[in-house]
Amino acid sequence: MPRSPPGVAACETAPNIALIKYWGIRDPERNLPYNSSISVTLDRLRSRTRVRFRPGLTADEFRLNGVRMGGGPLGDVRRFLDRVRDLSGVTDHAEVRSTNNFQTASGLASSASGFAALAGAATLAAGLDLSPRQLSQLARLGSGSACRSVFGGFVEWRRGTRPDGRDCYARPLFDEHHWPELVDVVAIVANAPTKVVRSASAMQASVRTSAEFARRQRELPARIDALRRALKNRNGPALFALIMEECDSFRRVCETTTPSLNYLTRTSREVLEAVRLENAVRGEAVAGYTHDAGAHVHVFTLRANATRVRARIQAIRGVSATHVLHAGPGPRILRVTRG
Ligand code: ADP
Ligand code: DP6
Repeated sequence: MPRSPPGVAACETAPNIALIKYWGIRDPERNLPYNSSISVTLDRLRSRTRVRFRPGLTADEFRLNGVRMGGGPLGDVRRFLDRVRDLSGVTDHAEVRSTNNFQTASGLASSASGFAALAGAATLAAGLDLSPRQLSQLARLGSGSACRSVFGGFVEWRRGTRPDGRDCYARPLFDEHHWPELVDVVAIVANAPTKVVRSASAMQASVRTSAEFARRQRELPARIDALRRALKNRNGPALFALIMEECDSFRRVCETTTPSLNYLTRTSREVLEAVRLENAVRGEAVAGYTHDAGAHVHVFTLRANATRVRARIQAIRGVSATHVLHAGPGPRILRVTRG
């Protein structure tokens, strides 16, 4: 890892939506998951982060969307910067400024794009030149899902089996141009609650208390294989059926956690029901829903059906907006200046 003096760097990354969910950590110290997961990195949504190491600064500072952060978010960023300092030998503290052009902490994966952008900007500002795989492993330590946002397109995070985590990282399956007909209509749900507990903590309650967790782990390898195949063959109906099955399995684990985790609002549930109805009327899966730990719902469909599906969802009371997204590119470096 070549080094040069610390300076300033900025990086832009996109959130990803998990088609196969990461939910459960087997090693909290190294952030190693119980299962592999698969996601799509999205276009249009982004986190843009600038890191400046400054001699004389007495503590790291973090501004998110113009607001000076303290508490958990600041602590998470500081711990992450400590890892970058350990790797690089840089001793200065840093100013971190980040903006998300979408809602933070509401299930649209701001932690994924946020920590992938921080990993990119902080390592470059510290003079490190990491490979994409090393960057993925580093980003994973900030937020598990962030290890997938280091790549564009369709991405798999392999759980690995080594106790030291060296075989646990994300890798691209197909780039963002693989399946241009695939559309993600995101239903933005009005009054979606802001999460107070990060997903990484919530999922550990599921590991401890949900009777469904072990069953889900047994089912996942076959579902992951089937999903990889559906993506490879660009098979819409197979993909849509699989992501709904997976999302329902994830939601069952959440709901059987003590205390129960309920991320959806009534409106979110109406969106799921609308997709089920549309598929029933059409006699095949023309669309498939999925959601992360939050109320907004992603509805995947093919371009030929996108207008109809979008209109159907937009008409649901409580859906405040719909965004039409596609698979998007990986990180973009915006600036690097050595100190
Ligand atoms: P989400 O569903 O948006 O990923 P989480 O609760 O899992 O929600 O994570 C949200 C947390 O991620 C925030 O409270 C903050 O600590 C962190 N975060 C979000 N955006 C950024 C960012 N751009 N840079 C650094 N950290 C961020
Ligand atoms: C349901 O990795 O985003 O979105 O580390 O708290 O940010 P934090 O958790 P995170 O958890 C992701 C959970 C999920 C599924 C997924 O993205 O695979």
